[in-house]
Amino acid sequence: MDLGINGRTAIVCGSSRGLGRACATSLARAGCTVVVNGIDPTRLAATADTIARETGARVIPVAGDVTTHEGQDRLLEACPAPDILITNAGGPPYRDFREIDRAAMLAGVTANMVTPIELIQRTVDGMAERGFGRIVNITSVSVKMPVLGLDLSSGARAGLTAFLAGVARSVAHANVTINNLLPGFIDTDRFRSGVTANAATLGISERDMRARREEQVPARRIGTPEEFGEACAFLCSAQAGYITGQNLLMDGGLHQAAF
Ligand SMILES: NC(=O)c1ccc[n+]([C@@H]2O[C@H](COP(=O)([O-])OP(=O)(O)OC[C@H]3O[C@@H](n4cnc5c(N)ncnc54)[C@H](OP(=O)(O)O)[C@@H]3O)[C@@H](O)[C@H]2O)c1
Repeated sequence: MDLGINGRTAIVCGSSRGLGRACATSLARAGCTVVVNGIDPTRLAATADTIARETGARVIPVAGDVTTHEGQDRLLEACPAPDILITNAGGPPYRDFREIDRAAMLAGVTANMVTPIELIQRTVDGMAERGFGRIVNITSVSVKMPVLGLDLSSGARAGLTAFLAGVARSVAHANVTINNLLPGFIDTDRFRSGVTANAATLGISERDMRARREEQVPARRIGTPEEFGEACAFLCSAQAGYITGQNLLMDGGLHQAAF
């Protein structure tokens, strides 16, 4: 399917690995010039080379912490007028809510709520002036259902979702859409490190822990980053211009609800 975004420019935050990398790859395959980002410059450079080689697209690596203004400035210097923005950063670590002090809470809210809002503030008006914009925020199934130990992630991301619900409607007239993609269990380094930690807590093998996770999911498997990236690219397509303010679960049915 031609997504109608050949020649568009995209900034994909947190994309040297995992879900962000998959989104960057799918957008590059659709013909976008893609700015990729991560903290570790060596890993980022290798990812940029691989995506460019695999897709033939122009891929620009911009290393830096996207939760800081310096990191955001660097991304926008490399791509001052993006057509597409994918917001993403690492999630907070699993932790009992009693152990989260004020500094940790503010860091979680900064990474998972304030940072996407700041990036949208800096890009959305240009998109509206040019008559095309697609913004996708990588959030989490934890916005819709509690995940023990991820209360900070749930709270900050639910705040982001509510904040942007009105913003999305305010720019819809200009063919700018803002949607959220909510991963359940997707096979990335972060997911695998969670399996390792949970296995150690329960005193079982990683293999058994992974099997338990698979059993939780109606699809009976862990999702792949590739299918996540393809869904993201579709939300960024020309054809998806009438979809805005939505929360799309990518969870194999994990969140059991009719609506
Ligand atoms: N995978 C899942 O099943 C799942 C489920 C629910 C929610 N999520 C959420 O989805 C997001 C992505 O998860 P993932 O599984 O793809 O994680 P991942 O495999 O750990 O990859 C995270 C990526 O983001 C980059 N990154 C992290 N913090 C950053 C920062 N402050 N500035 C710039 N880049 C940063 C990392 O760069 P480096 O390589 O340099 O570290 C890496 O490229 C996370 O917020 C996570 O909480 C994931």
